[in-house]
Amino acid sequence: MKKRIAIFASGSGSNAQKIMEHFKRNDDAEVVLVLTNNPDAYVLQRADNFEVPSHIFDRHEFYETSRVVTLLRNLEVDLVVLAGFLWLVPQNLLKAFPNKIINIHPSLLPKYGGKGMYGERVHKAVLAAAEAESGITIHLVNDKFDEGEIIHQSKFKIEADDDLEMIKFKVQQLEHLHFPKVIEGLVKKMKVS
Ligand code: GAR
Repeated sequence: MKKRIAIFASGSGSNAQKIMEHFKRNDDAEVVLVLTNNPDAYVLQRADNFEVPSHIFDRHEFYETSRVVTLLRNLEVDLVVLAGFLWLVPQNLLKAFPNKIINIHPSLLPKYGGKGMYGERVHKAVLAAAEAESGITIHLVNDKFDEGEIIHQSKFKIEADDDLEMIKFKVQQLEHLHFPKVIEGLVKKMKVS
């Protein structure tokens, strides 16, 4: 039986796209649902293109009801992937999927993580601090922003003339390369355990 993946995303969804591409023809897992808090998120179009169903929720539904958990359970989801999802995950969802929710973050955590640190804000902070390197972190999700156990990190050197766009590009390249493979590694482990 293939493992079943649900992806949460709040924006463009380029990572969601890479994951859907990777698991389109794959013996280990499939993407069964894309969820978003943002009705205008481009990730919805990407999900449509892959014929993956999607679900839009609002703050009330996510934090005050069990509808999202019920939906994931009904679809027999095994792994929840946050790919550019900007809301804190509520307790009921954490409890329903213990150690089965992962997130990607565009820096080398614990540096440049926490509330309000997402997307370009992270890269701007990295540049302002004149860091010699940056990278990506894939980690388990807990009840705090960007603090769960780290599963994977990869990094790159920041060159003297790297600007915001270049850092963004280098981070995105690493994310697109590694995120699907790390997910594949996790689902393979889930199959044998
Ligand atoms: C990614 O760079 C991801 O690491 C970041 O949002 C971007 C989403 O891009 N996530 C965070 O900053 C979470 N704190 P995408 O919508 O093109 O996949």
